[in-house]
Amino acid sequence: MADPKRLPAFEKFIQDLRAVWAELPDMEARMKKGQTLLEQLVNDAALRRISQSWPSTEGRKNLLFYEDQNYGFAINGVVRVPGRKGSIHDHAHAWTAYGLLDGSESLERFRRVDDGSKEGYAKLELVSVTEGTPGKVDLVPPFDIHAEQGGPARSVAVILRSERVAGKVPQGSYNMENNTVRRIDGPTNIPYEISG
Ligand SMILES: [Fe+2]
Repeated sequence: MADPKRLPAFEKFIQDLRAVWAELPDMEARMKKGQTLLEQLVNDAALRRISQSWPSTEGRKNLLFYEDQNYGFAINGVVRVPGRKGSIHDHAHAWTAYGLLDGSESLERFRRVDDGSKEGYAKLELVSVTEGTPGKVDLVPPFDIHAEQGGPARSVAVILRSERVAGKVPQGSYNMENNTVRRIDGPTNIPYEISG
């Protein structure tokens, strides 16, 4: 629903996403357009300024800015403390566009090298490490294994998910030292308004 209290750039982001979801039936196509729209949003100076007062999401939390009642997509925020060690995980069957708004992070992507036949076992290989800088958006396909590592300063990300996973479906959590995987509940979603 349109909300006059919302920051205009954020309201536009929501309405543009709704138009994309209405137009395109395919989730990959929707999320590729969503990635472009999120790039515009995380380059918005007013949003970057406002985000300086967002609370830390330490303790496996996400800010929940919006969840669409018709289309199901969700917009989250993550605020990391300097030097935050990120865990290796996937987002189950959901697509995720991860846009850095402030600070820097390094984004690690992994490949699974075992065949997945042994319960609880997963052998991973690091595929790439990308420096995330403000305004950049990483698109993560379903079940892609990755980690976000905090930079030297506080960092803030805005995340577009094809649907909220937390509280609905368990997601993969990986440990590279002992080659294990388990399914865990996603972060706690804390409703938070972006007003402007
Ligand atoms: Fe992630």
